[in-house]
Amino acid sequence: MKLTNIKMGIALLLVMTLLSCSKDDGNGPDPIEVLGIPFASTASNITDTSFQANWVLVAKTDGYLLDVSTNSSFSTFVAEFNALSVTGNTFVITGLSPATSYYYRVRAKRGVEVSNNSNIIAVTTTGIVAEDPTFLKVKANALANPFFVGVAVKSQQLSTGSAYDVVLKNEFSSLTAEYEMKMNPISTGSGSYNWVAADKIVKYGNDNGINVHGHALVWHNAVPNWLTNFSGTNAEFTMEVKKYITDVVTRYAGKVKSWDVVNEAVNDNDGGLRNTIFLQKMGPNYIKDCFQWARDAANAAGDTNLLLFYNDYATSTNINKQNKVYTIVEDLMANNLIDGVGFQMHNTYLSPTKIQMETDINRAVVKGLKIHVSELDIQVNQNNDITYLTEERNLAQKAKYLEIVKIYNALPAANKYALTVWGFKDNESWIPYSTDLNHPGNDWPLLYDKDFKLKSAHTGFLEGLN
Ligand code: G3I
Repeated sequence: MKLTNIKMGIALLLVMTLLSCSKDDGNGPDPIEVLGIPFASTASNITDTSFQANWVLVAKTDGYLLDVSTNSSFSTFVAEFNALSVTGNTFVITGLSPATSYYYRVRAKRGVEVSNNSNIIAVTTTGIVAEDPTFLKVKANALANPFFVGVAVKSQQLSTGSAYDVVLKNEFSSLTAEYEMKMNPISTGSGSYNWVAADKIVKYGNDNGINVHGHALVWHNAVPNWLTNFSGTNAEFTMEVKKYITDVVTRYAGKVKSWDVVNEAVNDNDGGLRNTIFLQKMGPNYIKDCFQWARDAANAAGDTNLLLFYNDYATSTNINKQNKVYTIVEDLMANNLIDGVGFQMHNTYLSPTKIQMETDINRAVVKGLKIHVSELDIQVNQNNDITYLTEERNLAQKAKYLEIVKIYNALPAANKYALTVWGFKDNESWIPYSTDLNHPGNDWPLLYDKDFKLKSAHTGFLEGLN
């Protein structure tokens, strides 16, 4: 064939190819379609060792590249799931570990072209791994004098198979509602209640053999609007509070094992009673009245084991406050109305010192009371001088967790109750940017990072259990 014919044939083939790529619909040739980014949808068919990854198909692709990791930054990958080439819009990943969090994402591919990553889907395999000695409650339960290891929860975290559900069942033996068992979420009016969230939390604890600590019957920061704006007499206000305490304690009798009856009744200055609506309308005996009503309601419901606590913060460093708390405690003890003291322990990596904490707590120990470290978290950025969790602060935090757990673990058996951390993941803590605390900037106060990865703080907690 003459060269010209060959050239003509190649030119014709090229034109045919180009035309076939861009269908001309009369408005001129379509531009080559941009390769779309897939949308990853929630996993399905989740088992102890597998799940199905799902995504929405993208037009005109040869297939997809699937990434699976145990962290949301995909710094490592599960087995062969590093840009694994797959087709269709589902893939079943097997051979996984039970009760473990995984993340997946996909990219579309067409020839040598690859799209950007899809959104990331988190999924946690079901199942409960065998009692792993590195789980907090497992190690605490194995102690000669065990105690509950607690965590603050929100009802929306408690769905079966969620990462919270898995970690809670693996690592914790007690739970406290972070806010949903307070007066303002529950009490909607005189004698009317919204029990939904509180019931869910209590049921979860009871169904899973996890101790439930009630927090808190009376707190000045959790007064529902209707009661704040109550127009009745002080005597009628008092009756409303009595009715609320009676109804709540009765409803959860035998299900909630302990209550913070009154929270934070002492001011931060001269150690006087905080000037709350309760003090103003019910008078200086309001604390004892509240404890009496809680005790009467529990006894009337046959719950003679209910533990009644007074709960407060910063008593280890504020001696005026510490002295006032113990005056209140002694008055309650004289009437057999209190069983324990809650030390919130919203601490920093510098304070309180070991001696300050031991001195404070021991004043309750010698009274034979139960000790609840009730809201433990340890700030590492209280002065906003770091923008990420430095290794130095990470290790300092670990040392403070170890210290407080060791103090608690050394308590006499009769005084042990629970040590509760105030939340799961750093990025969900109340502390960062907290106006209550006037905390500037970010912080990383808890045991798990934003991906539920264990921090050195968790290791410190475990070492405190030795
Ligand atoms: O999640 C809901 C959201 O769905 C809703 O739209 C929104 C409307 O206000 O409320 C959201 O709930 C918030 C909740 O935190 C979320 O965790 C509540 O408003 C908010 O009041 C609640 O704050 C809690 C605070 O107590 C007041 O109850 C914090 O989580 C909780 O960490 C904090 O804990 C207190 C202890 O009870 C007592 N000791 C001090 C400690 C820190 O302040």
